[in-house]
Amino acid sequence: MKDLLNKNYIEKETNYNCIILEEIDSTNHYAKKIETSENLVIIADKQTKGRGRLGRDFISKKGKGIYMSIVLTNFNNLIDITKITCLMAVVVSTVLDELTDLKTKIKWVNDIYISDKKVCGILVESIIKNNQVDKVIIGIGINVYKQNFPIELKSKVTSLEENTDILLERNKIIIAILNKLDEEFQNFSTNHFMKEYKKRSNLIGRIVQIRERDNSYEGKVLDINEEGNLIVETSLGIRTLYSGEVERIIL
Ligand code: BTN
Repeated sequence: MKDLLNKNYIEKETNYNCIILEEIDSTNHYAKKIETSENLVIIADKQTKGRGRLGRDFISKKGKGIYMSIVLTNFNNLIDITKITCLMAVVVSTVLDELTDLKTKIKWVNDIYISDKKVCGILVESIIKNNQVDKVIIGIGINVYKQNFPIELKSKVTSLEENTDILLERNKIIIAILNKLDEEFQNFSTNHFMKEYKKRSNLIGRIVQIRERDNSYEGKVLDINEEGNLIVETSLGIRTLYSGEVERIIL
């Protein structure tokens, strides 16, 4: 069965205007250039330069995944990108579990995992104009169908199809994500989603290898605080991680 992206269906079932592109460099890049005052989602069937966090590529083969950027406007004050990333991770992880028989996990800060492999990445960016947030762009990339990942990624990434027999439909997943985001966003200021984020984390209590710029060190993940920062116990004491990355789970 062809799983075609459907603008009318998505617009009918959500509060978002929808642009569907057959091919684009990056939906986040496209979203930055577009003027909008309403909620908008840009979805591509293929990206030629899909981008991830820390300048990495996000492989986006034709018809194999969901490559979308949600554009939110009308912010009264500065908004915390880390917290939006956490909220979005909860939204995507919850939706994937609800629509399949999977139990996805969140790997701090922006990745969704099935067992020990990445199935989705999230890249949130904001555009500031006159000291105000003009728009927030939430990029989401989900590997939906089986594909030939480059050899160096094979042991690290997976797709939904490889892990479930449930029939997958990209439009349904996209609609569920947009509606769940609206629902969760209502209570964004209460930080309630951080409880769920911690529950879904695959790092709390684990010994991990951390990379911060040129530094790499080991530590035990103690917690994730209300701001979405990772609290790690290291040989030099307890550290709060604002950026950086967990490059390996050791134990
Ligand atoms: C990551 O893995 O670090 C984040 C990946 C985010 C990928 C999505 S796909 C849609 C949107 N457009 C991009 O270029 N990136 C995001």
